[in-house]
Amino acid sequence: MLKELFANRVQPDNPSRLEGLFPQMNFDDAILFTAGSPAEELFPKEAIRQAYLDAMDLEGAHTFQYHTVSGPIELREKLAVRAQQKMQIENAKPENIMLTAGGQQGIDLIAKLLLNKGDGLVVEAPTYVGALSSFDMYEPSYHEVDLEPDGMNLDQLEEILKTNNIKMLYTVADFHNPGGVTMSIAKRKRLVELANQYNFIILEDTPYRDLRYVGEALPAIKHFDTEDRVVFLSSFSKVLMPTLRLGWMVASKQIIQRLYKLKEAADLEVPNITASAVNQYLEKNDLDEHIKQLIQVYSLKRQVMFDALQREMPEGVKATCPDGGFFTWLTVPDEINTTDLLYQSATPDAHIAYVPSKNFYAFKDHTNGMRLNFTGLTPDEINDGMHRLGEVLDKAMNNVAVK
Ligand SMILES: Cc1ncc(COP(=O)(O)O)c(C=O)c1O
Repeated sequence: MLKELFANRVQPDNPSRLEGLFPQMNFDDAILFTAGSPAEELFPKEAIRQAYLDAMDLEGAHTFQYHTVSGPIELREKLAVRAQQKMQIENAKPENIMLTAGGQQGIDLIAKLLLNKGDGLVVEAPTYVGALSSFDMYEPSYHEVDLEPDGMNLDQLEEILKTNNIKMLYTVADFHNPGGVTMSIAKRKRLVELANQYNFIILEDTPYRDLRYVGEALPAIKHFDTEDRVVFLSSFSKVLMPTLRLGWMVASKQIIQRLYKLKEAADLEVPNITASAVNQYLEKNDLDEHIKQLIQVYSLKRQVMFDALQREMPEGVKATCPDGGFFTWLTVPDEINTTDLLYQSATPDAHIAYVPSKNFYAFKDHTNGMRLNFTGLTPDEINDGMHRLGEVLDKAMNNVAVK
């Protein structure tokens, strides 16, 4: 009865892309390659506990009061320096930094800032499912651009730009979720040139950027920005803890001022206790030393994953070996539908789960891929899980061959 009162965006014919994304299994030997979870044993629990205590000691009861939408200046100063030094965004100032409730809110606010119903939005194919779930709410006209080993296909993009009015482009340029690939410097430069030429905003989403296992960091796309068209978005979720729900972006003052209006309307401000605690953490600890530890453990897991894939996957299955980040992407023969495979054999028989490719495409029409996370599992789990996945795929591919 209430159904007709609900807005179109939550009607059953518009199901959430995140609902049911991670199937739960009640098997003792279940192995989940699904979520983009950091390894819990690497959370800096003691340092964060101390940082919260320090934040409380500093301001007493006032810590718990309403503060401002912009959050502590001390934290924004530190992030501006980080943007300059680590991302090569040389002109980042504290007034260009905005704090958000995780990177996810940054994505949502930028979409809200730019998109009227039907406006042109370019996404990579595949792309981050959480971004699609947010974009859906603004009912854009999606345009997909294929992902290549060196980032999105810019020739395809230019064809779209010639014939469509595009307002916004969303990219995960470093260690793509889910694709695992990184955009080359040449493409970063050309993408900004195209944005200038065709008048659109680039949202550069980089939660995995600091987690590089091979090679040297590339300048952010925002480094090449000449007309304030790039919004750089980062998060503490993957390098500290997801529960902090603290993201940050670098953008022009013109953009930030409008985003503050939207953030105030949504949730007034970032929780001061968290922002202040993270500021204390950064003051008393070396975040980059902590990141080095993460890199050590994750790069080992990546290698275990890559070796297991080489060993266990049947011929005809291709995997990306990312230079950083959390995910590898598997492409299986066209005849295999990875959503069906998940529910018909991977979970019930092999007790393993992955995220099927369909979920990562705006138009949900790619069914022969899957995303596998490797950071949240132990090396034994990775080896065991890949052995089981190899068997599942082998069987499915043989069945197809027999038919
Ligand atoms: C590409 C990408 N962007 C944004 C997010 C959102 O992260 P958070 O809101 O925890 O910062 C994620 C989380 O997995 C992600 O993979």
